[in-house]
Parts: sequence; C-alpha cells; structure tokens
Amino acid sequence: MKTYLVTGGAGFIGANYVKYLLANYPDIRIIILDALTYAGNYGTIAGDVDGEGCIFVKGNICDQKTVRNLFETYPIEVVVNFAAESHVDRSIENPQLFLETNILGTQNLLDEAKRAWTIGKDSQGYPVWKENVRFHQVSTDEVYGSLGDDGYFTEQTPLDPRSPYSASKTSADLFVNAYVETFKMPATITRCSNNYGPYHFPEKLIPLIIKNILEGKPLPVYGKGINVRDWLYVEDHCKAIEMVIRKGRPGEVYNVGGHNEKQNIEIVKMTIDSIREIMEKEPEYRSVLKTDIERINYDLITYVADRLGHDMRYAIDPTKIGNELGWYPETKFEEGIQKTIRWYLKNQDWVNDVTSGDYQQYYERMYGKR
Ligand code: NAD
Ligand code: TYD
Repeated sequence: MKTYLVTGGAGFIGANYVKYLLANYPDIRIIILDALTYAGNYGTIAGDVDGEGCIFVKGNICDQKTVRNLFETYPIEVVVNFAAESHVDRSIENPQLFLETNILGTQNLLDEAKRAWTIGKDSQGYPVWKENVRFHQVSTDEVYGSLGDDGYFTEQTPLDPRSPYSASKTSADLFVNAYVETFKMPATITRCSNNYGPYHFPEKLIPLIIKNILEGKPLPVYGKGINVRDWLYVEDHCKAIEMVIRKGRPGEVYNVGGHNEKQNIEIVKMTIDSIREIMEKEPEYRSVLKTDIERINYDLITYVADRLGHDMRYAIDPTKIGNELGWYPETKFEEGIQKTIRWYLKNQDWVNDVTSGDYQQYYERMYGKR
C-alpha cells in the first residue's frame, strides 16, 4: 500500500482526484491536507473519508509544523500538490494571498518532502533519495501566457505569466524545477488547461453560468466574449496526473489538454441550450428552477467590463503526454457538459452549501460594479 499526501483535496480538482483514486486504486492510502478556504468544502469529501484508507487533516500547506508532522506520522511516498488560490479575478483583488499559498506553500512542501525523503548524500554532495518517491505539482497552462489566433502551448513554450495568479503558479513551477536541478528531487509537473465538471466552485465560468441560468439571473460575459479556453473534463485531468505519477519521467513537465477550444460566448450559449433542452425533455428537473423556463434564453447574456489583462487564448498541444504515456482526453465536450449540468441539477444542496458563506458579498463586489 502506497501513501499519498493530496493537498487541496477538498477543492474542485483535488476532490475529483481523491474520488478517482478511491474508485480505481484501492491500494493507495490518501492523506488529504486542506485548509478549507472558501473554495474547499469538507462535505465534498466527507463520504470518502474513513479515517484509514482516506484521512482528512485540516491545515495549511504553508505551515511547516503541520506538514512535518504528517511526514513523521505517515509513510508518505507521493505528494500531489493541488492546494492553491486558483481564481484569476481574486488574484487581481489580492495578489499577496496568491504569493503566500501558491509560492511559499509549494516551497514548504518541497522542503518537507526533501527532509523526509533524503537518506544521505552522494560523492558530489547531492542528496540520495528514498526509492519510489515522487513530488507532483499540479500546474496550469496559464504559465505560458496568452496565444494569438494560431499555435499551441508546448512544453517548450517560454513561460510568460500575465496575471498575479499565473505569476504565482509559474514561480511555484520554477521552485519545483530548482529542486529537480539543485537536489535531483524526483518531481514532475503537469500543466493543464481549464477543467470543468462536478464540484466546481460557482465563481468560475461554467458553474457560475449554470447557477445563474437556473436562477434566471444575468450571465456576466467579460468583454466581447471572444476569449478562448481549452476545456477538459476533470476526470480526464485526474487520469493524466495519475499516469504522470506512475509512468512519467522524473524532472519532466507534461502539458494536459483536450483540443477543445471554445470562445466563452460559445460556452455560455451551449450551456443555455443544454439546460433549456433538459428542462423541456425531462420536466422532473424543473423543480430546481427558480425562474420560468421561458426565461432560459440568450437574453440572459450580459456583456460586462472586461477582466484586467484578460488572456485572449489558451490552447494545449498534448503530443508529449499522448506519445510517452498514451493519455488522451476521453470525454467529448458535448458529453461532459451534459454530465456536468445534470450533476448540478441533482446536487443543488452542495451548491447552496458552498455559496452560503461570503459568496454573496464576493458576487456583489465582482458583478455589482460591472
Ligand atoms: P480550488 O480553488 O477549487 O481548490 C483549491 C483547494 O485548495 C481548496 O480546497 C482550498 O481549501 C485548498 N487550499 C487553498 N489554500 C490552501 C492552503 N494554504 N493550505 C491548504 N489548502 C489550501 O482549485 P482547483 O480548481 O481545484 O485547482 C486545483 C489546482 O489545479 C490548483 O493548483 C490550480 O492552480 C490547478 N489548476 C486548475 C485548473 C482549473 O481549471 N480549475 C486548471 C489547471 C490547473
Ligand atoms: P475562469 O473560469 O475564471 O477561468 P480562467 O480565468 O482561469 O480561464 O474564466 C474562464 C473564462 O471565462 C475567462 O476568459 C474569463 C471568462 N469569464 C466570464 O466571461 N464571465 C465570468 O463570470 C467568469 C467567472 C469568467
């Protein structure tokens, strides 16, 4: 049995990854470390935590004592670092927090992993590492900056972050690289495009749009709605991470993406169409609506002031992970968005739970003024 430390496991992708591991690899013991910020929700993983095969610890990745204690208590061999401040709009409001969590937190995890996993020094002074350990950093395509109309991000694309969020994620990646070079740490990085799927916090585009459509509220589209994101169903991302941990070469970066580029306005229109269709064909879902079904149409679209420094286009070239590891995105967007919408229709309690805190104030701050 291998023990994984999964940080940020109560957030969107982290929780999906925990569920993916539990469903597919019963021989892995999971320790979830999560600070339960506004984006983390214990309820998301409560049914998975059993105190043995899946253990939950509330704590901050920046806290040396907490992290050291985990390494001393459990035979952790793999660290998968999802924990982060993850929302670009919030990073524009408060860059400092992104520096603390995303950079200092990652560096603390690297240091504590190095402390726990090194068993001596070689003749040149490099640390000698325990066998079969791996530090995996969950990164983003946003570290590459923004594309024009053509081209794709490859692993060789120069790093060119443009938002405080992406700058902090890039710095974290550079620290991981520094530990690979300086200490020969067995570490890998995945840089993934935009995810969507169950348990996505409704401050991000797709879940926010779903929530607002169901409530008959305006759908805020930044600028002209022509910015392009490359959407990937979250389970495909989880699978890619696990493949990289198992078969990826230490010290390497792997891009993960779905060749599924869409303008934001297309996403919004597809989501409206899909919800309208489900409501018409499956009237049992109408009880979820807080608006009249007739109001579910494009009139809900509201163009608002653009995001500052809004990256125009992201698009991943996943050739490396495809060729080396045989990964490919399994879920077509049309299927994934249907699955996602149905999940939200069936899990309104979850939505109500996660938006019961400061969400309302956040929403008014963000969209009241636009
Ligand atoms: P999320 O905001 O939904 O979840 C982040 C989780 O980290 C939350 O559970 C939160 O409580 C926890 N957390 C925050 N600060 C912490 C701290 N100091 N200590 C411990 N836990 C803390 O984010 P997500 O969308 O699930 O993203 C997970 C990771 O994947 C992030 O590193 C993000 O940069 C990366 N990523 C996200 C996407 C995407 O589309 N969402 C795409 C590519 C990469
Ligand atoms: P988001 O989900 O915040 O992810 P990211 O900024 O990391 O790509 O946003 C996805 C795209 O949707 C991005 O171009 C900004 C845009 N957007 C809107 O138009 N309206 C919204 O309310 C939100 C949250 C995002």
